[in-house]
Amino acid sequence: MVKVDLSGAVGFMNSTGPDYGAAALAHRALAEGTWAGAEFTGWRQLPRRVQGDELKQIVNAAERIRDNSEVLVVIGIGGSYLGARAGLDFIRPKNGPEILFAGTGLSPDDLYEKLEILGDRDFSINVISKSGTTLEPAAAFRIFRGLLEKKYGSAAKKRIYATTDAARGVLKSIANAEGYESFIVPDDVGGRYSVLSAVGLLPLAVAGCDVRSIVGAAAEAMYALDLRSAENPSWQYAAARNALYAKGKTIEILASYEPSFRYFAEWWKQLFGESEGKNGVGIYPASVEYNADLHSMGQYIQDGPRILLETVVSFERARNDFEVPFSMGDTDGLNYLAGRKLSEISRIAMEAVKAAHVSGGVPNIGISVPMQNEEGFAALVCFFEMACAISGYMLGVNPFDQPGVEAYKKNMFRMLGKPGV
Ligand code: PA5
Repeated sequence: MVKVDLSGAVGFMNSTGPDYGAAALAHRALAEGTWAGAEFTGWRQLPRRVQGDELKQIVNAAERIRDNSEVLVVIGIGGSYLGARAGLDFIRPKNGPEILFAGTGLSPDDLYEKLEILGDRDFSINVISKSGTTLEPAAAFRIFRGLLEKKYGSAAKKRIYATTDAARGVLKSIANAEGYESFIVPDDVGGRYSVLSAVGLLPLAVAGCDVRSIVGAAAEAMYALDLRSAENPSWQYAAARNALYAKGKTIEILASYEPSFRYFAEWWKQLFGESEGKNGVGIYPASVEYNADLHSMGQYIQDGPRILLETVVSFERARNDFEVPFSMGDTDGLNYLAGRKLSEISRIAMEAVKAAHVSGGVPNIGISVPMQNEEGFAALVCFFEMACAISGYMLGVNPFDQPGVEAYKKNMFRMLGKPGV
């Protein structure tokens, strides 16, 4: 379902092109669990594993929340947050409770604003933390839980849903002690690969996304992405970006012409940044939002240091469309566009940008899916996860750990006086 277009990229590679032999080796190691991080590759089976009882539990809990809450406060950070946010931004479901994300920082002003947005509306909490020890969400949970208990008394615990480790951790212990309904972040799935578990699916279901369609499409996509050939789009993308990295393209900008792709790009940045940026190597993942950023970052992209590669995600069909109206007198000089669809104009603009950037020395990788809906979301998530794992292995790193994230935590806990640190 995902299509990769390398026509704007191959000219920037060595004459041998993308190294599909290396992609094949990486894929085999991933499937057989023979390289580093094999214990965190359960995400490949997640869509199939979640179907059945777990999905029923998610859908039932979501129904309850939709019945009794005007707002769901989702508390989590990094991999325990970005997938749900990306899905909501991408799918744009309507008619569900408002989803308010908290716990992504320690800003008191931001918290104040969120509390103001919440107001005195009925709400529930979905606290998401695999470890249970991450400071930002833990602090937010303490505050929102206090509010919930003040508002609902002993009934508050029926409005708290904890998504956490199956057996260990502080949050698991609290959930057991208090009797919160719990959902599992599987042991063999790291945060940034967890969107197709309850981590992403519960908030998406509450907001009104069809999570059965997401999971069904994801199961099909994972199956298709197991293809062992150069026809596999995840091989094409992984091999192309490694070939371009070898030619000095050290920054990848993920671009889309849809503003509703913004948080998907944030999710993608975490996926690739945390998976590949280690041992002194890795492409730096950045993102831009076209056409807006053509008028801010466009100059740098066209003419700055030639270290960029550009990956553009597009959709074959728009969800809505408009025609440019005819205007008597043509005072704004736009009648040459009258009667033409905005989607067609946008596509031509995209082609024009590609040609300009390629001729300016920026390789262009095109990625497309049919539509921005549940199926498109699932297809892109599976595609990027698979490509990231293969790309990381091709680069020679473990794409499933994140040792660098601990450095700031250690300092922060020591400076805050956490006992035992
Ligand atoms: O991808 C990751 O592993 C991280 O981004 C984590 O998801 C993030 O640090 C939050 O961790 P936790 O779910 O343990 O609170």
